[in-house]
Amino acid sequence: MNAIPLVVLIVALLLVGVELGFVKAQLSVNFYDQTCPNVDAIVTGTITKLAEQSNVVPPSTLRLLVHDCFVEGCDGSILISSTATNLAERDAPDNQNFPQAPFDAIVEAKKAVEVVCPGVVSCADILAMSARDAVVFTGGPFWNVSKGRRDGLVSNAFRVAGRLPQASFDTRLLADNFAQVNLTVPDIVVLSGGHTIGVSHCNQFTDRLYNFSSFQQTDPSMDPSFVRTLKTQCPQVGKIPSTVQLFDVTTPFVFDNAYFKNLQQGLGLLFSDQVLFNDPFTRQFVNQLIASEEVFFQAFVDAMIKMTSIGVKTGTDGEIRRDCTAFNPPTVFKDHS
Ligand code: HEM
Ligand SMILES: *[C@@H]1O[C@H](CO)[C@@H](O)[C@H](O)[C@H]1NC(C)=O
Ligand SMILES: *[C@@H]1O[C@H](CO)[C@@H](O)[C@H](O)[C@H]1NC(C)=O
Ligand SMILES: *[C@@H]1O[C@H](CO)[C@@H](O)[C@H](O)[C@H]1NC(C)=O
Repeated sequence: MNAIPLVVLIVALLLVGVELGFVKAQLSVNFYDQTCPNVDAIVTGTITKLAEQSNVVPPSTLRLLVHDCFVEGCDGSILISSTATNLAERDAPDNQNFPQAPFDAIVEAKKAVEVVCPGVVSCADILAMSARDAVVFTGGPFWNVSKGRRDGLVSNAFRVAGRLPQASFDTRLLADNFAQVNLTVPDIVVLSGGHTIGVSHCNQFTDRLYNFSSFQQTDPSMDPSFVRTLKTQCPQVGKIPSTVQLFDVTTPFVFDNAYFKNLQQGLGLLFSDQVLFNDPFTRQFVNQLIASEEVFFQAFVDAMIKMTSIGVKTGTDGEIRRDCTAFNPPTVFKDHS
C-alpha cells in the first residue's frame, strides 16, 4: 500500500480535527518543567509575601482571574493598561472598582519569574497560579495549576459589557451568563463560594436596602439586623461608592464554607449571592456545600480548573508578554545592508 495517500489522509483528518476543536493543544501541569521548573514556587513566594502585607491582595487577585477569564478567555487581557489609542478592559465600568493591588501583585510575580526564565512564562499563567496561591493563603484548597496559556492580543473596554455577571442577577440571568463560557448552574453555586473572602462596594447592593422593588424597600430575604447594620454603613444619601463591606461577616478573610452557611441565615451580601439560597433549584447545591467543607473544596478545585480553561490560547496563538501591562512591541527587523 502506498504510504503517501495515508499520510495525506492523516494530515487531513488532523486539520479537520483542529478545525472542529477536538484536537486542541492542552494545558499541562508540567508545561514549564524544562523551561522554568520553579515557576510555581517563584509565584507562590511573591503572592504569599504580598498577602502577608495586605489582606486586600488575596480576594482581589482571585476576582481578577474571574474577570480575566470571562472576557476574551483566560489570556491576561485584563492586565493590559490603557494607552492614548486604546481604552483597555481594566478601564471598563465593570472593572473600575478593582484596587491597584492585584495588578501590582501580578507585575511583581512576573518580574521575579523573568529574572530566572526570561520570556518564557505567560502573564495568563501567572495570574492563574496567583489566584490559586490566594486561595491557599487564606486557608482554601491547593491544586496543581495546568499551564500553557498564551497572552492575548486584544484588550478593549467596549468588549467587557454583557460578559461579566452582575450583582443584580437572579439565578436565570446567572445561568445564561455562565453558559456563555460553558459553565453550569452547579458551577455558579460552587464558584460563588469565592465570596467567602473579600469585600464589595456599597453601590453593588444598596438597592437591596432602600429600593428593592415597588412593593418593598428592603429585600425580605435579608436578615433584619444585617439590614440595619448595612444601612448605617452604606447611607442612601450621598451613596459614597468607595465604602466597602465584608462578604462573609463571620470569617471575612478565611477561605471556608461559611459563605454558604451565611446564605442560610439571610446574610448574603449581594442579591446574586442570596438568590442562590432563595431559589429551590440552586438551594440543593448550597445545602450540599454547607454539609461538607471537604465537598466544597473538591468542587471548588474542579470548577476553578474548568473556569481557568475558558477560551485559552495555546501553541502559537497570542504571545508571551514581556510586560504584563502592555502588548509586546512589534518585532523590528534591522536593516544591515
Ligand atoms: C456568580 C456571579 C458573580 C457575581 C455577580 C459577582 C459579583 C461581585 C461583585 C459585585 C463584587 C464586589 C466588587 C466591588 O464592589 O469591589 C465581587 C467581589 C469578589 N468576587 Fe465576585 N462575583 C461573581 C462570581 C465570582 C467568582 C466565580 C469568584 C471566584 C471564584 C468571585 C470572587 C470574588 C472575590 C474574591 C471578590 C472580593 C474582591 C475584593 O475583596 O477585592 N466572584 N464579586
Ligand atoms: C500536584 O502534583 C504533585 C507532583 O506531580 C503531586 O505530588 C501532588 O499530589 C499534586 N497535588 C494535588 C493536590 O493534586
Ligand atoms: C463552549 O463550548 C462550545 C462547544 O464545545 C465551543 O465552541 C466554545 O468555544 C466554548 N466556549 C468557550 C468560551 O470556551
Ligand atoms: C430604584 O430602582 C429603580 C428600578 O431598578 C431605578 O430605576 C431607580 O433609579 C432606583 N432609585 C434610586 C433612588 O436608586
